[in-house]
Amino acid sequence: MSDSGFSLRTATGDDAEFLADMLVAAVNWDPARQQVSREQVLGDRQTAHYVEGWPRAGDLGAVAVDTGEQPIGAVWLRLFSADDPGYGFVAADVPELSLGVVPQWRGRGVGRALLTEMARQAGASGFTRMCLSVERANRARGLYADEGFTTVESGPDSDTMIKIISRQ
Ligand SMILES: CC(C)(COP(=O)(O)OP(=O)(O)OC[C@H]1O[C@@H](n2cnc3c(N)ncnc32)[C@H](O)[C@@H]1OP(=O)(O)O)[C@@H](O)C(=O)NCCC(=O)NCCS
Repeated sequence: MSDSGFSLRTATGDDAEFLADMLVAAVNWDPARQQVSREQVLGDRQTAHYVEGWPRAGDLGAVAVDTGEQPIGAVWLRLFSADDPGYGFVAADVPELSLGVVPQWRGRGVGRALLTEMARQAGASGFTRMCLSVERANRARGLYADEGFTTVESGPDSDTMIKIISRQ
């Protein structure tokens, strides 16, 4: 546990529900918009496939926990195929990143720590790149850029970004 009051651990099968919570948080990143219900997020293949069957072979992830071991944030990577791509799909061998931190812990370094840990795990597993999709208006975009992600494709409202992972 660092001075920051949180620590990181590897995500396990027991974290499936929390990852789904963080997926819902990521979909609902903009509080000014009508919020999408958990049922809708998990009922729509386009979003549900980020957590469906967690953990699937090849999935990687980390969970941030507070001093009471309560989860406060999560990051995970999943491979998608060209016929069932994620929003940030680049190639079948490039895992796509999802990230969320509970509202009361945002802006305290949890997201940045999770991104660093995800790159470490990905590198240790032999991945050379990871990708993501982020809406341009989301402040998370600046965090990703700061953490070494660069934009490789831009849609009307969102960017696909990749990070080259340096080998450990
Ligand atoms: C985006 C998110 C994961 C960042 O996690 P975090 O723990 O708040 O991030 P950190 O505290 O490590 O870093 C914050 C940095 O990111 C930026 N940032 C992005 N979103 C932010 C937010 N909602 N609140 C505060 N800072 C935010 C800040 O500029 C800050 O930079 P700084 O460290 O130079 O001040 C978190 O805010 C979140 O869960 N948001 C809703 C879900 C979401 O948008 N997920 C990503 C979808 S692509």
